[in-house]
Amino acid sequence: MSASKLVKPAMEYKESYLEALKEFHAEGRYDFLKVDELSENFPAFLEDLNEGRSHLHNPFADWVEPVPETNLWMVKENMFIGSFIIRHRLNWHLEKLGGHINFTIRPTMRGKGFGKKLLQKGIPFACYLGIDRALLTTSPDNEAAIRTIEFCGGEFADETPSTEQFPARKRYWLDCS
Ligand SMILES: CC(C)(COP(=O)(O)OP(=O)(O)OC[C@H]1O[C@@H](n2cnc3c(N)ncnc32)[C@H](O)[C@@H]1OP(=O)(O)O)[C@@H](O)C(=O)NCCC(=O)NCCS
Repeated sequence: MSASKLVKPAMEYKESYLEALKEFHAEGRYDFLKVDELSENFPAFLEDLNEGRSHLHNPFADWVEPVPETNLWMVKENMFIGSFIIRHRLNWHLEKLGGHINFTIRPTMRGKGFGKKLLQKGIPFACYLGIDRALLTTSPDNEAAIRTIEFCGGEFADETPSTEQFPARKRYWLDCS
C-alpha cells in the first residue's frame, strides 16, 4: 500500500471524492456542493478548483477583496482522504476567521493520524507559495484541530471573542519557512 500524498484534484479520485462528500453532508458540511451535479460535471469542478479560484467570503463577498487559493487533496492510492486549502495572503476577513490554511479529513478517516500528516505535508506547499508564517484559526472547542495544529508546531497567538458577525476563534501562527 502506498503512502498518503498531497496532489492536485484529479479525475481518478472522482468516485472516492463523491463518497466523501456524502460523509461531509451527513455532518452538515459542504451542503452547497451537490453530489448529482458534481457527478455530471466533475471535469468543470476540477478545473475550477485547479485554476486558483478566489476564496468566497460569504456572507461578506461584497466587502472583501478576493484572495486566490490553492486546493490540494490528500489521497492514498485512489482514495480521497482530505483537503488542504491555502489562501495566498490574508485580508481582514481571513485574519478574523479563516486564516491562511484550512484542512479537513473526511469523517470516516478521522482519528487515524491523517490530520497530522495532512498539515505536516502541506507546510512545504505554503512555503512554496511564499508564506513564511501561516495563520490558522479554529473554534475554541475543536479539540482535534487544536491538537493537530499544536502537534505541527502552531504557536498560540490569541483567542478572539464571539461577536455578532464572527464566532470565537483560537488563532495560531505556524512557521512554514
Ligand atoms: C481537525 C481534523 C482535520 C483532525 O483530523 P484527524 O485525522 O482526526 O486527526 P489525527 O487523527 O491526526 O489526530 C490529531 C490529534 O487530534 C486528536 N483528536 C482526533 N480526533 C479527536 C476528537 N474527536 N476529539 C479530541 N481529540 C481528537 C488526536 O488524539 C490527536 O492528538 P494527539 O496527537 O494529542 O493524540 C478533523 O477532525 C477534521 O477534519 N475536522 C473537521 C474540519 C476541521 O475542524 N478542520 C480544522 C480547521 S482549522
